[in-house]
Amino acid sequence: MPVDRSLVARRVAMALAVATCLVQGAAWAEPVPASEAAQRGFQLLLLRQDSGCVLCHRIPGLPVGGDIGPSLEGLSARASAPEVRQRIADPRRFNPLTLMPAYLSLTGLTNVAQAYQGKTILTEQGLDDIVAYLMQSDRVRP
Ligand code: HEC
Repeated sequence: MPVDRSLVARRVAMALAVATCLVQGAAWAEPVPASEAAQRGFQLLLLRQDSGCVLCHRIPGLPVGGDIGPSLEGLSARASAPEVRQRIADPRRFNPLTLMPAYLSLTGLTNVAQAYQGKTILTEQGLDDIVAYLMQSDRVRP
């Protein structure tokens, strides 16, 4: 049976078009690399002793996470960066009885260990970096 070359050519072209769409679709869904601030934030989040966030929260991109606080998945859709920053700096402003530590506050603390007296848990820079990661965490590759 003779091969209809134009038909074959059309099929090949169509297969190529579909493949291109699939590749583009995959590239579209592929997470983008994190900004430098977000990468530093990610490292801080991994240091459980320093940040402690994963003891209470599930955070996209992190292998472990607790259930005491809400999952931080989809955070950027429900809060702005300044809101998230305030929330971490001093969660008592939103809930005076919160379990979450005030990461950038020196007031209202009792029984602070000698080594930590006069120091906030996170630095301003550390907090900004964590916020940068949290705001991108649903779509970045750390
Ligand atoms: C001891 C547990 C605990 C730790 C540690 C903790 N959190 Fe929380 N967090 C909570 C709880 C509980 C809430 C729910 C609101 C409340 O009670 O204040 C919360 C709320 C939040 C929210 C608001 C979530 C939302 O859906 O709006 C953010 C953002 C957040 N935490 C970020 C962090 C980050 C970042 C860290 C680490 C730097 C951290 N938390 C450490 C317990 C914790």
